[in-house]
Formats: sequence, C-alpha cells, structure tokens
Amino acid sequence: MEGRRDLWYGERDMGFPTIRPRRLRRTKELRALVRETTLAPDDLVLPLFFNAAIDVPHPVTTMPGVSQLPVSHAATEARRIVERGVGACILFGLPRAKDPEGRAGLDPEGPVPRAIRAMKDAVPELVVMADVCVDEYTDHGHCGVLRTLPSGIVEVDNDRTLEILAEMAVVFARAGADVVAPSDMMDGRVGKLRVALDASGFESTSILSYAVKYASAFYGPFREAADCAPKFGDRAGYQMDPGNAREALREAALDEAEGADMLMVKPALPYLDVLRAVRDSTTLPVGAYNVSGEYAMVHAAADRNMIDLDRATMEILTSIRRAGADFILTYHALRAAELLGA
Ligand code: PBG
Repeated sequence: MEGRRDLWYGERDMGFPTIRPRRLRRTKELRALVRETTLAPDDLVLPLFFNAAIDVPHPVTTMPGVSQLPVSHAATEARRIVERGVGACILFGLPRAKDPEGRAGLDPEGPVPRAIRAMKDAVPELVVMADVCVDEYTDHGHCGVLRTLPSGIVEVDNDRTLEILAEMAVVFARAGADVVAPSDMMDGRVGKLRVALDASGFESTSILSYAVKYASAFYGPFREAADCAPKFGDRAGYQMDPGNAREALREAALDEAEGADMLMVKPALPYLDVLRAVRDSTTLPVGAYNVSGEYAMVHAAADRNMIDLDRATMEILTSIRRAGADFILTYHALRAAELLGA
C-alpha cells in the first residue's frame, strides 16, 4: 500500500500521464484477450437424479428445471450432455425401498448402476461419475450406519459404514462408472475405496473425494431431490463446521495421502476462500460443488425479477473458477453450456 501511494504522488509531482486500466476494457475483443479466468462447457459436471420408482420425470419443486428421472431416460440424457459439450455427469439414486444400512445402494439392478450402463452404452466417451453415500438409501437419511453408545447417544458408525461404501463403489465401478465420488465424510473412506477397487480389478476407476464438505444449510433442495433429509438430528457429527478453514487443508491432505485422484470443496460460494486455500495446497485437480441451495437462491431471486438469471449464473461460475476450481458440479451446467456455445 505504502509503495502504491508513493507511486501515485510521484506521478502527479512529475507530471506522468494518468495510468488507464480502462484502455483494455474498451472492446469485448480486448477484454477477451486479457481475461484471466475462462469458463468452458467441459469444466462443468451435471448432477442427475435417477428414481427407480417413476416412469416419467418428476420435477423437483425447489429446483426449477431439475427433475428426478426414470432410468429409461438415461441414454437420452447422456446424448444431451455430450451434444452440449458438458464435461461429465454425476449420478444420484432413489431406490424403491430403504433400510437402516442402505443396502439398496449395493443392488447392481439399482437405479444408479442401471443408469450408468445405459449412459455408457449410448455414449461410451461420456465421463460418468457416481456419488457414493448411503443417505439416499437409508430409511433414517443419515450418511452412515447408526449405533447406540452406552450413554444412549446415537451416532454414525464410521468403520461399519466404510464396509458398505467400499462395496457400493465396486458395484458402481462394475457398472462402468469412470469416477466414484464418496460424499459421506467418514474417516478413512478414500483409502478403503481404493483398496476395494484395486482388489476387484478396478484400478483404473478414479476417486473424486468430497474431501472438504461442510455441514451446510445450502443442501436443503437436494434433500428433496434425493429424498434424503435426516429423519432426526443433523449431519454436524460428520460434516465440517463452517468456521473451519485449517481443517479443510487437513481433510484434503488426508484424502490425497489415501489415494484420491481429485478433491472437491462443497458448497462453493460461501467457501471460495477455502477453495483457494485447497487449490494452493495440492497439485491434484480440485473441483467445487455449486450446490442445490446456491442454485435455488439464484432462481428464486430471478423469478422475482431481482437479478438476471443468465448473467448471475455466468458470474457465479466464473467466480468459482477464479477461486481455483478446475471443474464445477452445477445444476446450471446445461444452460451455462448453451450460453457459452452461443
Ligand atoms: C450426500 C450428498 C448431499 C449432497 C451431495 N451428496 C447432501 C448432504 O450431504 O446432505 C448435496 C448436494 C446439493 O445440495 O446439491 N450424499
């Protein structure tokens, strides 16, 4: 700061001409030439919800433009994604029935494995990711198997949950997923998944770890979309405290050491500082999840004519890239790709 003020006074005293950053903002071509951060369709990952119990798309009321899809739509959806140039998709599943351990998530005929197979059959080059977590499959909605401690406190049993997650990752890999993405926040799950995948011959299947995932209010609409709101309590016992940034680096380092191929920070907008810090702390690719509540918020404001939907969308996605994300999981993916292609 000191130096800049000296420079400024110096200019005036010595009669230098005004320094004019605006010269490079004159035309859109000049602006494009000097733009530091760019956004491309293949930086985007579209989340999709496949519901085993429906035959026609079922709109998610809190997320305009997003629907739960029947598995029969998987191939069409795959084609739509590659036509728009979107980089990848990530699949979530809604099973027909749930149980306390989320065993429906291990069914090779469940909605996610079936959708993966249909998408890869239709468009083999499409990058298909599968979210690995039990919350969509448990009747209580938590991201793990429960146990009651002698004190009477109910908690998520970390190590028993790991067994189920590892099995789920192998089921999704066998169905053809290119990437499995554990979102549960159990300790040690990346290493556990890596060992299980390798032991089953899936050493080429990548792991995208939701390494830094906060206990956030912004997951609200997703819990309707994936029908996975916890029936009691909250997720603060396993997801991160919003006040913590140093801990994010610790989580990222642990997952890298356990063998993660890519790391993710989630949500995106309230944690851009954390995203930047994680980006600077690792050489792995880093993604960010622009979550359901961030999406719903923009739509809600645009519906009331408070902001311009498309401009706000592009500004948000650019800001997430500028903070250091190599790729962005976002429900805006198809529309943003359309705008970028125009
Ligand atoms: C858990 C999971 C969640 C999201 C992705 N994976 C919900 C949660 O942790 O409560 C949220 C994504 C979003 O809000 O868009 N399997």
